[in-house]
Amino acid sequence: MQGDYASVTMVMSSLERFPGTAWPPTLDEAGQARALEALEAGGILLFPDLRFAIEPSEGRFFVEGWSAAAKNISYEAARRSLGGTKAEGEDATGLTRLMARYAEASRRLVEAAIPLYRGRIETARTSFRPVEIAGRSSSPRQDDTRLHVDAFPSRPTAGRRILRVFSNVNPAGQARRWRIGGPFASTAPQFYPRLPKPRPGSALLHAWLGLTKGRRRDYDHYMLQLHDAMKRDDGYQREGVIEEIDFPAGATWIVFTDQRPHAALAGRYALEQTFHLDVEQMKHPERSPLRVLESLAGRRLT
Ligand SMILES: [Fe+2]
Repeated sequence: MQGDYASVTMVMSSLERFPGTAWPPTLDEAGQARALEALEAGGILLFPDLRFAIEPSEGRFFVEGWSAAAKNISYEAARRSLGGTKAEGEDATGLTRLMARYAEASRRLVEAAIPLYRGRIETARTSFRPVEIAGRSSSPRQDDTRLHVDAFPSRPTAGRRILRVFSNVNPAGQARRWRIGGPFASTAPQFYPRLPKPRPGSALLHAWLGLTKGRRRDYDHYMLQLHDAMKRDDGYQREGVIEEIDFPAGATWIVFTDQRPHAALAGRYALEQTFHLDVEQMKHPERSPLRVLESLAGRRLT
């Protein structure tokens, strides 16, 4: 595959910067229009000075030892349930409060930046990522230091978008380092011809076995295959990178992680909030991974 990715190296920065120090920041109409266009084109909306405030009593969560086996502590706002942590009692309550506050602040941030999405985004999982990324061992498929688009085997989206808000809350001032790949619309066609086709009946089988939350559509199949194919391709990992970004401590950023290829190389202590959005609720549905893959497949995938 060497050389196939050279065409994306001249792309302009994928970052679109916005001022603001208070949650939610105020964007004027021009700023909101710029945010919407950049985000739906796969750009990263960066608020370099939008620090998510950690309360003094929460300082205790910024040491080793709170996460269980998993790398992330997770929170489901809809059920107010906390997972992936050894915290109990008062500590579990404190972590829940921190993450619920982040979920709410993130929703207000997205709605302030993109008024079109008001009332349209669905709040999904919140995560607290206390573990240092660099040097963490994992299988290639689970290795998030390799460029990929987000797709999760147990959580099919049925075509809905994965919109994420990240905040670097590292108390020691350590940056969070990402690598970024080229746009989805030019990357997906390079991989599509070698993605295995979905097998009839396998989606129902996965749902019946309880392996997936909801039925996996052909779209979910292709996104998982794309995620894996990107991570496995050493040529793409070498040559698909268009940019390396250090997100400083105190920065917040918003990105469709199902669209923009990304890799997290180093950093610890980040908060992340996931939202889902129906493709039809976007200003430019044709830019969504669903529509791009459907045009490659020549048929509907949901
Ligand atoms: Fe990811």
